[in-house]
Amino acid sequence: MSSFLPVDLAHASRLINHGPTVLVTSCSADGSQRNIMAAAWSMPVEISPPRIAVVIDKHTYTRELIHASGSFGICIPGVVSTDFTYAVGSSSGRDTDKFKKYGIVSLPGKELGVPLLEQGCVAWLECRLIPEPHTQDAYDTCFGEVVAAAADSRVFAQGKWMFGPENEDLHTIHHLGRGNFVRAGAIIRARQPE
Ligand SMILES: Cc1cc2nc3c(=O)[nH]c(=O)nc-3n(C[C@H](O)[C@H](O)[C@H](O)COP(=O)(O)O)c2cc1C
Repeated sequence: MSSFLPVDLAHASRLINHGPTVLVTSCSADGSQRNIMAAAWSMPVEISPPRIAVVIDKHTYTRELIHASGSFGICIPGVVSTDFTYAVGSSSGRDTDKFKKYGIVSLPGKELGVPLLEQGCVAWLECRLIPEPHTQDAYDTCFGEVVAAAADSRVFAQGKWMFGPENEDLHTIHHLGRGNFVRAGAIIRARQPE
């Protein structure tokens, strides 16, 4: 039974505001091909409408599929998916069907049909590609408008992440480089400025 609940689009930027490593999912226009890769470089760029940016190298199979379909998914893995995240970021869907190899269970996004992962993940965002040929070609940066989002209510609720010692397995992971990650850890609350 999934603990995922829809996230208000006004809060979608908070899902990646803290810089988690994400999984970018994609599929061909006819849905017959699916793919997944890891991306450490993503960020929100607008709150309303919710827009994000993610760097996706032009040589990846993911880029090819995203250009063909005009959409992509951003799935946010939890600690339990650390090995899996590193693995799907270390091979190309051109050589291996990663969905088959790793037995990935996904559901089709209701808005755009992109594959979305809940098992092993703590949130997802369904995104429509905003075509920006210059930034795509020159900087490998793809912009997307978030059209739907959901998160595991055990760790994200009322528009906030709730990382604590009771849900360490559900913390997001952050890439330090060369397969080393740090999990989100404890929340530090800043005092209200006077
Ligand atoms: C932890 C991690 C983070 C990564 N971050 C990015 C990234 O931000 N942008 C990118 O283009 N590639 C990144 N990569 C590399 C891609 O995931 C990798 O090239 C992948 O094999 C592409 O798969 P595809 O050809 O099936 O699309 C990362 C890899 C790992 C392991």
